[in-house]
Amino acid sequence: MTMPVTINFKDVDLEAIAGAVGRIVVFLPEGGKLDQTARRVNRLTRGALARFAESSSFSDLKPGDAADLAFPSGLAADAVQVIRLDRKPTVADARKAGAAIGKAKNGKPLLVLAGNLGRVAEVSLGLALRCYAFKERKSAEPTEEGAVDFMVSKPDQVAAEASDGAALAEGVFFCRDLVSEPANILTTEDYAARLAAMQELGLDVEILEEEQLEELGMRCLLAVGQGSESPSKVVVMRWNGGGDEPPLALVGKGVVFDTGGISLKPATGMEDMTMDMGGSAVVSGVMRALALRRAKANVVGLVGLVENMPDGRAIRPGDVVESMKGDTVEIINTDAEGRLVLADVLWYAQQEFKPSGIVDLATLTGAIIIGLGHEKAGVFSNRDSFADDFLKAAAQEGEGAWRMPLDPAYDKQLKSQIADMKNVGGRPAGSVTAAQFLQRFVDEETPWIHLDIAGVASVKSDTTLSPKGATGWGVLTLDRLIRNSYES
Ligand code: BES
Ligand code: MN
Ligand code: ZN
Repeated sequence: MTMPVTINFKDVDLEAIAGAVGRIVVFLPEGGKLDQTARRVNRLTRGALARFAESSSFSDLKPGDAADLAFPSGLAADAVQVIRLDRKPTVADARKAGAAIGKAKNGKPLLVLAGNLGRVAEVSLGLALRCYAFKERKSAEPTEEGAVDFMVSKPDQVAAEASDGAALAEGVFFCRDLVSEPANILTTEDYAARLAAMQELGLDVEILEEEQLEELGMRCLLAVGQGSESPSKVVVMRWNGGGDEPPLALVGKGVVFDTGGISLKPATGMEDMTMDMGGSAVVSGVMRALALRRAKANVVGLVGLVENMPDGRAIRPGDVVESMKGDTVEIINTDAEGRLVLADVLWYAQQEFKPSGIVDLATLTGAIIIGLGHEKAGVFSNRDSFADDFLKAAAQEGEGAWRMPLDPAYDKQLKSQIADMKNVGGRPAGSVTAAQFLQRFVDEETPWIHLDIAGVASVKSDTTLSPKGATGWGVLTLDRLIRNSYES
């Protein structure tokens, strides 16, 4: 997998600055006052830093923004990256500053002069998250990534604060790699093997094969995968770091490729459907982070891994299948497959684990992109307090999320002539009817959140903390939610 860059925290050593190769980073607060390390850089560059600090080039920068002083005389480094950041920055500004460092790094060694700057751990997390590139499918030999050294006044303390962030960055990278992989590599088999390998981290991983899924009655999930050469699977990952309390369940849609099935999608853009396992990738990334940071909580992650292909054995429009719950579904459109997968995994999660709450994630509808674009995921919930906790966690982490409605009034759109329901509700409120469909497979007593992440899982332009492509949206927020509500 793509590993986050290793970040070392060292004592401040003024004598090491002149000879440092690669890039040097200094932070200047509003007003441009130089700290001890910045004064040394200023002296070595014969006043260049102070001149920059007094210029409008500096005062025009917003907190967390950066500018380069290239090939400075008096230093071995190629550039001094000057970042505007107050001594006690907000979490968001500290991460943004880190992201600016990560974006400009370009494989070079880095010396970050952080001294007694506040929230250095958040700077290092922003750096790690932004410094991502998926190179696994490039034939070129990977070039060596230059080391990252932070000079800080209390290295041990900062290193301790940054260690959970390093776990989180690895969880995000694991998620992004899964989303980035093409479907000929990340088959259901390959995917399950990658999840099974996480047993080494202390997770309990169980793989349910087609035979078992058949016995359990997961006909909806199996129906989606029956046109594929790759066998359908449900993978259950357990992290038991808490006491005896029931777990939080995370459920993910893992459609490794979505052709639409017999209701075939148009050719243009179909290649993007390699990301249709984005929900399951977030679940997997969170489970990895929880294991790496040895979280004090009980969490079970369940992912439904299937491939939606057109084939002689594929389901057809008009077919009726029975869910594990026992309700029957008329499949009007084989491209509305995610909800069929989730219906059975949601039901299984409740029967098997009696969770205290469920969060499901899915790249479920194109309609959520029409509604919210690529900035925010849709949040549907049967419990206001649970939704509020989630939205608070998302705000803390700077991940966009917006509450959407659930209402029995939408149920009439799902009425079927011949079965208990149909799998599509027509054009109006497509994301809401998809959520209403899922709600039929969730017990009213169980607090539940459904996240439609079709617009945010993979994007066509850079975000603050990720290059274009897979974002890892949701790993940070779910980890935060678990810290806030499930760990004491
Ligand atoms: N995987 C798609 C949703 C999607 C669209 C994800 C764009 C990411 C980007 C889902 O399986 C799907 O095809 N949904 C249909 C539902 C429709 C047939 C009711 C859609 O949104 O068009
Ligand atoms: Mn589909
Ligand atoms: Zn899909």
